[in-house]
Amino acid sequence: MESATPVIVAIDGPAGTGKSSTSKAVAAQLGLSYLDTGAQYRAITWWMVNNGIDVDDPSAVAAAAGKPEIVSGTDPEGPTITVDGVDVSGPIRTQEVSSKVSAVSAVPEVRARITELQRSIAASAASGIVVEGRDIGTTVLPDADLKIFLTASPEARAARRSGELKGADVHSTREALIKRDEADSSRKTSPLAKADDAVEVDTTELTLAQVIECVVTLVEEKRAGK
Ligand code: DC
Repeated sequence: MESATPVIVAIDGPAGTGKSSTSKAVAAQLGLSYLDTGAQYRAITWWMVNNGIDVDDPSAVAAAAGKPEIVSGTDPEGPTITVDGVDVSGPIRTQEVSSKVSAVSAVPEVRARITELQRSIAASAASGIVVEGRDIGTTVLPDADLKIFLTASPEARAARRSGELKGADVHSTREALIKRDEADSSRKTSPLAKADDAVEVDTTELTLAQVIECVVTLVEEKRAGK
């Protein structure tokens, strides 16, 4: 029988490590909710771009940070994301949003707003939740039951991402990923970082199925020990 206590799983790591695929599959297998926090930062970035906000002006971004209403659907079989009622699941994956999301997500007012949203979603997940991002184990949910930090070589990450982008050039994908990771890791407010108590899983040589199995086992061990 499943444990009655909600289990909170934080999965962090850079782009292209298999975070989303792993997190969704683990949540689906274990009957948990799923939250893609990168999608929330992409959604607020999309809104800024669409509303003519200069994303390179942190004070303009900060002043607008409270305006869009972002709603995340947390079913791992079909996660959704809307901004002011508009489905933005497609538009948030464009190159334009990808190239601007690091600047927007470095603004403290944006992080405060999105972090609050993430905490309230996690608190209301009845059976528990898998939350994926960059600062979940360190800042958003420091008391998570299990923290995972996924890594992979830049080559493996670029190859996976260009596969997802249907044949995008591996070299330019690699450069763009490295640039985004550097920006995300070096920002002042809650950078991409491994929590001291996170389990690091290097996925370079692993298949997706192996990574999923590894994380499911870790969650089950945690639950059994509760
Ligand atoms: O996971 P992703 O590549 O869709 O995330 C997009 C961007 O959002 C990422 O480059 C940095 C930002 N992000 C963040 O700052 N904090 C998070 N918890 C998740 C994502």
